Amino acid sequence: QLDLVMEAEGLRMTIHNLGTIVTTSAVASQSEASGVGLEQCIVGLPACVTITTRDKAGGHCRSGNAILSAEVCTPDGSVADGEILDHKNGTYDFVYTVNKEGEFSLALRLYDQHIKGSPFSLRVSPPTTTATSLTTTATPSTGSSEGAKRRGKSPGSGSKKKGSRRTGSALGTPRRRENPIEDDLIFRIGTKGKNKGEFTNLQGVSTSSSGRILIADSNNQCVQIFSNDGEFKSRFGVRGRSPGQLQRPTGVAVHPNGDIIIADYDNKWVSIFSSEGKYKAKLGSGRLMGPKGVSVDQNGHVIVVDNKACTVFIFQPTGKLVTKFGSRGNGDKQFAGPHFAAVNHNNEIIVTDFHNHSVKVFTPEGELLLKFGSNGEGNGQFNAPTGVAVDVNGNIIVADWGNSRIQVFDGSGSFLSYINTSADPLYGPQGLALTSDGHVVVADSGNHCFKVYRYLQ
Ligand SMILES: *[C@@H]1O[C@H](CO)[C@@H](O)[C@H](O)[C@H]1NC(C)=O
Ligand SMILES: *[C@@H]1O[C@H](CO)[C@@H](O)[C@H](O)[C@H]1NC(C)=O
Ligand SMILES: *[C@@H]1O[C@H](CO)[C@@H](O)[C@H](O)[C@H]1NC(C)=O
Repeated sequence: QLDLVMEAEGLRMTIHNLGTIVTTSAVASQSEASGVGLEQCIVGLPACVTITTRDKAGGHCRSGNAILSAEVCTPDGSVADGEILDHKNGTYDFVYTVNKEGEFSLALRLYDQHIKGSPFSLRVSPPTTTATSLTTTATPSTGSSEGAKRRGKSPGSGSKKKGSRRTGSALGTPRRRENPIEDDLIFRIGTKGKNKGEFTNLQGVSTSSSGRILIADSNNQCVQIFSNDGEFKSRFGVRGRSPGQLQRPTGVAVHPNGDIIIADYDNKWVSIFSSEGKYKAKLGSGRLMGPKGVSVDQNGHVIVVDNKACTVFIFQPTGKLVTKFGSRGNGDKQFAGPHFAAVNHNNEIIVTDFHNHSVKVFTPEGELLLKFGSNGEGNGQFNAPTGVAVDVNGNIIVADWGNSRIQVFDGSGSFLSYINTSADPLYGPQGLALTSDGHVVVADSGNHCFKVYRYLQ
């Protein structure tokens, strides 16, 4: 007797796990936006716009999943950071923060087409005078306001001149003693552009023990690799929505085995490439909603910060989920907008919570150990923290996006110092890492360059 016994259950599970098809009848021409955040907001404070999707006949859509994008910009680049929340009932919130005053254009798109009335004109006002005068004395280095003033006078040109001078010295002899040191900057690399060594809205930064600096160049859909001295080495990345392609690389990490791990915010997965840039695998597909930052822990596990889901995922490099923690909210194990993570020598996970203006430290199992920071411009306060790194002594270095500065804390979250960025101010810093020769490298996103600093010296 011979029988074929079908294992249909396994097949069903496989097909189930392939993914789901999502549909929406929303059309851009009928969809609308409302809310005060559509016309005005205040520098550094979160603002909100509600988008209501409608179908071709103008009827209310009742389900979510529409692909919306939002951008606050000037002709020379994006000035805001924010996220879109899908209420799954046909309405969406765009919560954002702008770090510069002025008149901007706010574009809201559904499937790449402007919704009704988009682009909108947005006026961004400075914070109230009392708040500013209170904090300017308390804060030794307010990168954001200095930067805004400088740029107000001569947009672009001033910083470009400085950039080329710094770049020149960096490529020659980066740590030349005879150069008078103005602040903690060692060198800067890059201007806005699409070529090698140029960037458009760079986000994540990582380093390798072999003396490399890796930059997730998000709007150019590639990763660029430099030496610790700032010399361009290579780049890879092909734009697209298929496995092996990049749509919006925001996070980058280097695995101890040399592999390069990339969080792709728009493709909603994490891609793994060999050290030569050859595509190997992806992980988190179908689970992740908006992976922004990525890191590797002491066990070689991949830590993914899902900004949209407000969840930290820990994967084996094979893609198997080890654990996850976090949800949206202000509770102990919750996030209001996590961006990047770092891992210390105790294998604890340090996460920046952008909209909660804090840094949270968790055990590998996801128990909250420590939280520090509040909203403000004072020492140890944040206006939307982004990049984070931890050094061999357990000190935590945090990019303070809205205040355009970098702060250094000890392992218990006590403020130690600022990196002095006064001579060439940052503008919306994002990812941050420590180079193998002990310097801090930061993605100066708004200036479309990366900068290398000394710290605690
Ligand atoms: C959609 O959901 C949000 C959040 O739960 C709620 O505030 C809003 O009123 C809902 N809108 C509609 C039209 O049901
Ligand atoms: C930063 O460096 C500049 C230039 O050396 C110096 O004038 C300024 O006092 C420094 N700021 C702080 C807070 O140390
Ligand atoms: C941040 O979270 C804490 C709870 O951990 C909450 O009390 C506080 O209001 C939150 N801050 C903001 C600005 O959301």
